[in-house]
Amino acid sequence: MSSLHLVPLTHEHVPALLETMADPEVLRFTRTPDPMPDGWVEQWLARFDGHARVAWAIVDAGDRFLGYAVSGPVDRAEREVELGYAVAPEARGRGVATETLRLLTDWAFAEGLHRVTALISVDNPASSRVAEKVGYTLEGVLRGKHHVNGRHVDLQSWSILPGELETKQRKDSPGDGEVNQP
Ligand SMILES: CC(C)(COP(=O)(O)OP(=O)(O)OC[C@H]1O[C@@H](n2cnc3c(N)ncnc32)[C@H](O)[C@@H]1OP(=O)(O)O)[C@@H](O)C(=O)NCCC(=O)NCCS
Repeated sequence: MSSLHLVPLTHEHVPALLETMADPEVLRFTRTPDPMPDGWVEQWLARFDGHARVAWAIVDAGDRFLGYAVSGPVDRAEREVELGYAVAPEARGRGVATETLRLLTDWAFAEGLHRVTALISVDNPASSRVAEKVGYTLEGVLRGKHHVNGRHVDLQSWSILPGELETKQRKDSPGDGEVNQP
């Protein structure tokens, strides 16, 4: 597979974004509301200003939408950020999330941040595996941390510090990606 790129998530991505957000696994493992109220996605998108919070579209070399990734609030005082990601169902199982998390972690360290976290449902082993492959360390479980579509969810807390990023590429991973600055 050719390289992937992370580009600022904008209104042009909304149709593909909505398709991915409607996937049952995305509804289960992210805080996307189900059902989604009218206008919700535009309000959600408006929260990302490219500095205090950042959102990216994951695209392939032909600009095909593969998924999206987001930062939580970038805490420049504590030098910490939380990252999240979701891959379109048809693009899964090819290393897209792993390469995306690797690129985003690299971006966070380049921004001068010191601690990068990912909060992952205890019932989401594919995402836990992604964090593990990139070099994140499992710190423990935050009980009842997120309220998702009427359920309180226990989340694994994963973190990575500078120098711990796993740069090894799998032979079949997308590789050679880049993050376009918002
Ligand atoms: C989780 C998700 C991001 C993974 O995306 P992806 O591009 O398929 O991930 P990758 O291909 O990079 O890696 C997935 C890894 O998980 C493994 N995996 C997949 N399903 C698994 C399962 N049920 N149990 C254990 N491991 C699993 C894969 O084998 C692969 O590991 P490997 O390379 O060692 O074989 C994707 O399924 C998704 O978007 N899910 C819905 C939204 C979501 O959960 N987002 C994360 C919120 S924290």
